[in-house]
Amino acid sequence: MTYATVYAAWKADPEGWWMEQAKAIDWDAFPTSARSDDGTTWFPDGMTNTCHNAVDRHVAAGHGDRVAIIYDSPVTGTKAKITYAELQDRCARLAGALKARGIESGDRVVIYMPMVPEALVAMLACTRIGAIHSVVFGGFASAELATRIDDARPKAVIAGSCGVEPTRVVPYKPLLDGAIGRAAHKPDFCVILQRPELRADLTPGRDVDWHEALAGAEPADCVSVRGDHPCYILYTSGTTGQPKGVVRPTGGHLVALYWTMKNIYNVDPGEVFWAASDVGWVVGHSYICYAPLIHGNTTIVFEGKPVGTPDASTFWRVIAEHDVKSFFTAPTAFRAIRKEDPEAAQMKGHDILGLRALYLAGERADPDTILWARRVMGKPVYDHWWQTETGWTIAGNPVGIEALPVKIGSPTLPMPGYEVHILDENGAEMPEGELGSIAIRLPLPPGTLPTLWGNDERYRKAYLDRFPGYYNTGDAGMMDEDGYLWIMARTDDVINVAGHRLSTGLMEEVLATHPLVAECAVVGISDPVKGQLPMGFVTLQKGAETTDEQIRAELVALVREKIGPVAAFKLATVVERLPKTRSGKILRKTMAQIADGEHVKAPATIDDPAILDEIGARVQLLGYPKKGT
Ligand code: COA
Ligand code: AMP
Repeated sequence: MTYATVYAAWKADPEGWWMEQAKAIDWDAFPTSARSDDGTTWFPDGMTNTCHNAVDRHVAAGHGDRVAIIYDSPVTGTKAKITYAELQDRCARLAGALKARGIESGDRVVIYMPMVPEALVAMLACTRIGAIHSVVFGGFASAELATRIDDARPKAVIAGSCGVEPTRVVPYKPLLDGAIGRAAHKPDFCVILQRPELRADLTPGRDVDWHEALAGAEPADCVSVRGDHPCYILYTSGTTGQPKGVVRPTGGHLVALYWTMKNIYNVDPGEVFWAASDVGWVVGHSYICYAPLIHGNTTIVFEGKPVGTPDASTFWRVIAEHDVKSFFTAPTAFRAIRKEDPEAAQMKGHDILGLRALYLAGERADPDTILWARRVMGKPVYDHWWQTETGWTIAGNPVGIEALPVKIGSPTLPMPGYEVHILDENGAEMPEGELGSIAIRLPLPPGTLPTLWGNDERYRKAYLDRFPGYYNTGDAGMMDEDGYLWIMARTDDVINVAGHRLSTGLMEEVLATHPLVAECAVVGISDPVKGQLPMGFVTLQKGAETTDEQIRAELVALVREKIGPVAAFKLATVVERLPKTRSGKILRKTMAQIADGEHVKAPATIDDPAILDEIGARVQLLGYPKKGT
């Protein structure tokens, strides 16, 4: 089989092709139709359970002793292995504890946990009883957690007492309490995992200790749910401050993720697969938790960073020590390692011969980083492009079918299920090699989002209205003469900081709440390690009494408090006025170009070109453009 034959087989009969793939999943009742009548959801009437497919079925097949999860935590000095049989027991007991406290199929449960195996247990336990989880990344502050609690309206929250960052312990419990205090919706109860690094005071009448809850619990069986039943909601950044709740239905999620493990990541059941990300992001959902387990692999829960925990050798150690066959991370991680150890001298003593390939996604993989990784590892490096909304690869290299020639800078070709088009402003097809909006012809394949949680209208507006008949990815790029895709930029206000998707619109909303700020703009500027960094420009209210230093410190603290440290907002400056067009549109792109040291031609529509000189002077005071850019 070749990529071309597989893609052609899908295209000739998309529904039949996916029904065939669906046979890899255990169903209580096999779906009678591939898609719902309205076309949005796959395998709607199939009956199945996610936890059964990820855990129980492997135990039933005699693989109970196989390691399901390896926990490797350099920040706490802990390592542990959990077999599929042990995982089944923990999931069943947590599910039982949730059920005993009133959680039923369809109820939402918010999970706010660091990178510990219990985060996966919590996710799986929810799916076991049909509860819909929504994991919130630990680097988000109380206000962001509160926004998600109000949108998802969970009956329960499962949280860790703390997270452990390389230089500090982050108390999660005060953040959780703050969020619940701030949210209009109140959960009935919280399950708190006490970590030895920092125990939390439990709130009487509301909080339950994780271990006590499990110890006294009656194990719960898997509950059969429909294929169109949501498995989870995951919030992601959009243009506004209100995050978008991506809904992931059960059936399509199981089928699509299973397919990717062999065909894209080229691993067989029993082998070790490692995605170095966080359960708070889609990569963590799909490739730390669900796909490897659904496929019967061993997954690694790594609590650490590529550098500083303790040094740039950590990734090599983990790969060698646990015999990782396929490794997935964001390019920023490799840029961080390269900066610290340019010749990868710290790889010495770590035998990574067993590794087959490195997979990169989450942001643009710059050619320099790909070439460096390839050279120091001596392994193929595969870029692949996808997003929270799709849950799995839109374009990649289907190595398990056939390793296609790599063109550095391109994530390669569309996967079966995706018909990708490059469109101009009017929705007409762009010629080869020309930049346009990247859109996917509907229907989207299994595993992708059918809507946003509780907000069909926003879903339509955000993704479908722009190009009728297509899903608008929000990315711009082109397709070359061989059909290879080239992803160049976002078409909206989303920026990508260290592989984390963030909204500049949200940061602007936060800056605007400062009493001295009159107007503001946040733009994404280039950064050699994190890819992009946010930079804020503000004008002050008339007569505001403050200094540049003071207001900058206050703005940085405000964003950290309201959004969280993950926003990495550290650059802010005061300007007399913001550059605008005569119609009043803020020229954000021009400001970013100035900070990046690009040649800037004042747009013809600018109301006052002299403002650009002031912007230039201000960014210089912040140390931009960086030398060499
Ligand atoms: N809980 C609390 N705080 C967190 C956190 C968490 N789960 N995750 C990150 N933070 C904090 C960090 O401590 C940092 O705080 P600081 O400003 O006090 O230093 C801040 O949020 C920014 O984090 P990050 O952008 O990750 O920067 P970093 O300097 O800690 O690490 C990298 C930079 C490149 C090493 C790291 O981002 C990385 O490994 N990224 C690649 C992998 C990845 O996770 N990709 C995600 C999608 S695939
Ligand atoms: P997220 O939803 O957080 O996974 O972010 C998705 C966005 O990250 C995409 O829409 C792209 O803008 C960007 N992205 C992800 N993978 C790639 C890639 N391989 N190349 C270029 N951009 C990417």
